[in-house]
Amino acid sequence: MIDSEPTSTEYERAIEIADGIYWIGFNDPQSGLHCNPYLVIDNDEAVVIDGGSRPDFATVMMKILQTGIAPHQIQALIYQHYDPDLCGSIPNFEDIIRRKDLQILSDSENLMFIRHYSVSSGLVPLSKLKFQYEFSSGRRLQFIKTPYSHSAGSFVTFDAKTNVLFTSDLFGSYGVDWELYLHLAPECMECKNLSQCDRKLPDCPVDGILHFHRKIMTSTKALRYALEQMAKIPFEIIAPQHGSIIKDAATIRYVFEFLSSLKGVGIDEIIEADYEFDYGNFKKRPGTQ
Ligand SMILES: [Fe+2]
Ligand SMILES: [Fe+2]
Repeated sequence: MIDSEPTSTEYERAIEIADGIYWIGFNDPQSGLHCNPYLVIDNDEAVVIDGGSRPDFATVMMKILQTGIAPHQIQALIYQHYDPDLCGSIPNFEDIIRRKDLQILSDSENLMFIRHYSVSSGLVPLSKLKFQYEFSSGRRLQFIKTPYSHSAGSFVTFDAKTNVLFTSDLFGSYGVDWELYLHLAPECMECKNLSQCDRKLPDCPVDGILHFHRKIMTSTKALRYALEQMAKIPFEIIAPQHGSIIKDAATIRYVFEFLSSLKGVGIDEIIEADYEFDYGNFKKRPGTQ
């Protein structure tokens, strides 16, 4: 049954966030970088999205078993970029799934790094799949590129059956005060100045999202391009790899608006957009004539 509002004790089990889509992460109060792997089940087939780090593997695998899926039913592992918090457990998955035809799906820009984790799986670039993965039933996962948000090969994954969009680091957040679903109070939705909280909250969840994007994304331009790609997709639920799932349309619009006008993202916080390197000065250095 799909959980609308799980309590914190229910985070001990896999939680179905949409038809056949399970959150298989765990509540990690020690870490500000909370990870959310997901399992998509279609009849007797399954795929894992952004499976998680090596130390998290035992917990993630236990959650998969709780759904009734056996390891050999996992046909593919999808990695939306190549960071260790997604990919670290690839050898563990390969060991337990033990399928010769297990596929690792990612953009070719990511696969050249992912191959350093993988021992035995077939590495399949998204271009070879025409940017979609199809289950035997015909259910499709579509892959949409979001380059440099934050890796060259970053992409998001859309399940048209449930309108869930898996966004990896996009819409992620830092923060130890974590809930599976993002809830904003009505007065929060009116807030225009996140640095002055009328409710005196110790941590503003929206500010946590903005801070994460300033630090993790490469540039304002890359983030805006990614948001533009997302805006074309008819999603209803955002399922990020960090932070909380957002399923309320007004909250999605509210966060989207803040992100689309966010400044000082990545390198743009350090240098101006029209910055030019003064090669003349470099030429004058001793030893460079
Ligand atoms: Fe990342
Ligand atoms: Fe991440």
